[in-house]
Amino acid sequence: MKISVIGCGYLGAVHAAAMASIGHDVVGVDVDQRKVATLSQGHAPFFEPGLEDLLRAGRESGRLSFTTDMAEVVNASVHFIAVGTPQQRDSYAADLTFVDAAIDALLPFLKEGDIVAGKSTVPVGTATRLSGQVESTGATLVWNPEFLREGWAVKDTLEPDRLVVGVPDGAGGERAERALREVYGPAVKSGTPFLVTDLATAELVKVSANAFLATKISFINAMAEIAEVTGADVSKLAEAIGYDERIGRQFLKAGIGFGGGCLPKDIRAFSARAEELGRGESVAFLRQVDEINLRRRDRAVQLVVDGLGGSVFEKNVTVLGAAFKPHSDDIRDSPALDVAVRLHGLGANVTVTDPAAIENARRIHPQLTYVEGRDEAIRDADALVLVTEWDEYRRQLPPEHASSLTDGRVVVDGRNGLDAAAWRAAGWSYYGMGRP
Ligand code: UGA
Repeated sequence: MKISVIGCGYLGAVHAAAMASIGHDVVGVDVDQRKVATLSQGHAPFFEPGLEDLLRAGRESGRLSFTTDMAEVVNASVHFIAVGTPQQRDSYAADLTFVDAAIDALLPFLKEGDIVAGKSTVPVGTATRLSGQVESTGATLVWNPEFLREGWAVKDTLEPDRLVVGVPDGAGGERAERALREVYGPAVKSGTPFLVTDLATAELVKVSANAFLATKISFINAMAEIAEVTGADVSKLAEAIGYDERIGRQFLKAGIGFGGGCLPKDIRAFSARAEELGRGESVAFLRQVDEINLRRRDRAVQLVVDGLGGSVFEKNVTVLGAAFKPHSDDIRDSPALDVAVRLHGLGANVTVTDPAAIENARRIHPQLTYVEGRDEAIRDADALVLVTEWDEYRRQLPPEHASSLTDGRVVVDGRNGLDAAAWRAAGWSYYGMGRP
């Protein structure tokens, strides 16, 4: 099929490359000339395992191209909208400027029978608001949310655990459903659940999935807060409750909480939208989910202060990690970087290291010191703070090796990723999150 993808950020670039890899002709459109040039050369503008291979293969096959010229979508019959919906500067609500601009720019090129499939995460009601404009061209607007995780984006796109398509009533909706089953042919054939809903349900599926995941993390972090005043161990607790299949072990890792470009802004936008709909109280708990999440960053900072005897002023603190999670160079709303910035604000000499995110972090927080090599970053530290659980800080950093680099013996494990007993046995004061 001939497909266009409007917006070539995380979602769009991966979607475009993945769709080309399963045999479609794909054109990706973005307003950012540099991003388009990078993608056109077969390079990923961000760290995402497997993406460059797909981009190169797409380029060689001649089935994948990128452009800033919207007119190039004219031969496509299915157009995916994959632009960002960040948090507004002065409120919790989502900023829909890019979605509106993408639709406006696309309208002149739509033909009778085309399908416009929104993938961006939007407040419920957005698709209905936009459908009149799209339908006036003879095209049909559907909503097809995406559930990819950064770091696993290629796999999640090619082998999703479910496909969800919100369609309008009538012949246009039925045609759109058939078209999307064809677009996702290989996944559909392999038995991936394909759920067809109305537009509002599809929009809500996306935000409620992220709200649920965020709630799960904040739930276990709330248990960590209780564990901290009772001497209990939240890691053991999570393991024990996780064996109950109804609860499940995933997303029960206590630590410094969730960040990134999705969960934080999505729960805030959901709260804002629910308020607009007069149902703010229905998701009032999301405020607490957000508050619990942000408190865990304070807790990690406090543990460093306590570990260093009440003050971090002019102490050398090495922060292991800057990305919001491992296998990513994304620092949007990163709890890891926030902890580093707060320690710097308290007067510590903060050195940050990360295998992938240093460049991005430096751009936003040039006041911190960045060192690429892990061992060089650790040298002479008074305290180590693990905030992003990359393997090279977790599994591949024996405490004896850390001891050989530094006189300090304080380690704060913001992700509960270290072997506490091993670090203590090596003479370190170990502080975990919700662990004795
Ligand atoms: C999240 C969702 O997991 C995806 O399903 C969704 O498609 C995506 O947002 C999106 O809306 O586009 P992502 O932001 O890539 O994906 O990251 P996650 O793997 O969900 O991690 C989010 C944050 O939660 C990270 O900071 C991670 O460290 C933290 N986390 C995760 C915990 O603190 N504890 C856990 O048990 C799990």
